[in-house]
Amino acid sequence: MSARIIDGKAFAASLRERVAAIVPAFEAAAGRKPGLTVVIVGEDPASQVYVRSKGKATEAAGMVSTTHRLPETTTQDALIALVRDLNADPAVDGILVQLPLPKHIDEQAVIATIDPDKDVDGFHVVNAGRLAVGQEGFVPCTPLGCIMLLEDRLGDLSGLNAVVVGRSNIVGKPMAQLLLAKSCTVTIAHSRTKDLQDVCGRADILVAAVGRPAMIKGDWIKPGATVIDVGINRIDNGEGGTKLAGDVDFAEAIEVAGAITPVPGGVGPMTIAVLLRNTLVSAYRRAG
Ligand code: GUN
Repeated sequence: MSARIIDGKAFAASLRERVAAIVPAFEAAAGRKPGLTVVIVGEDPASQVYVRSKGKATEAAGMVSTTHRLPETTTQDALIALVRDLNADPAVDGILVQLPLPKHIDEQAVIATIDPDKDVDGFHVVNAGRLAVGQEGFVPCTPLGCIMLLEDRLGDLSGLNAVVVGRSNIVGKPMAQLLLAKSCTVTIAHSRTKDLQDVCGRADILVAAVGRPAMIKGDWIKPGATVIDVGINRIDNGEGGTKLAGDVDFAEAIEVAGAITPVPGGVGPMTIAVLLRNTLVSAYRRAG
């Protein structure tokens, strides 16, 4: 058996087009374009690449993209002051502070300063709480993108056994909340989970978000399961360079799973597409 490949790249492109198609209607009604402001501190090369991609995608969707590039030496107080200015700026619908921040800055203190109604990343505790109790808010982009791919593939998720491997605030925990809201039976597994292979083997939906290349093997997967691989690990390509690999052993998993997201081209492209979607949603909510 060979799994169907879930084409996140194509789904993300279509979501971006759908967002871009609605932007002119917002502009006509509100007299302005939706605006996303990204703040990056320091020179981390991977973060620089992400932030450039976010800016380009925002402009391609017809929105206003603003990027604040701050030096590594920026103080926490200065960063918080900038976030407060952005909170007060009516042209800003979404604020995204790129993580990780330099070590001398307390990330939670900065995220806590963002107006929850402009927190298009969904990282503020108010948005985490809203998700937990089923109120409208912002949901982190990567897990929301995973749910979109799952519903596109499976339709109703209700009653399915879902196992999330990973318990980060950005992916694992919100992913579990979203699956629970879709009436899945949810297990959160992590590095201390006993009999991880057995736990994974019961999953109709297996979401891997651990950050360890090829950790999940083919014989851990229930035949026919839907596998969502959130891992983006840079590994040696055996030819002196590097390549991207997921958390799932793709070559093995494709023989067992019913459907699987590849890396690259699966979950990765969904993050920015959902960010644009969240920004448009924010613009409409704020315009009343
Ligand atoms: N760093 C890596 N991914 C993300 C993300 O989705 N949002 C933010 N703010 N920082 C990140």
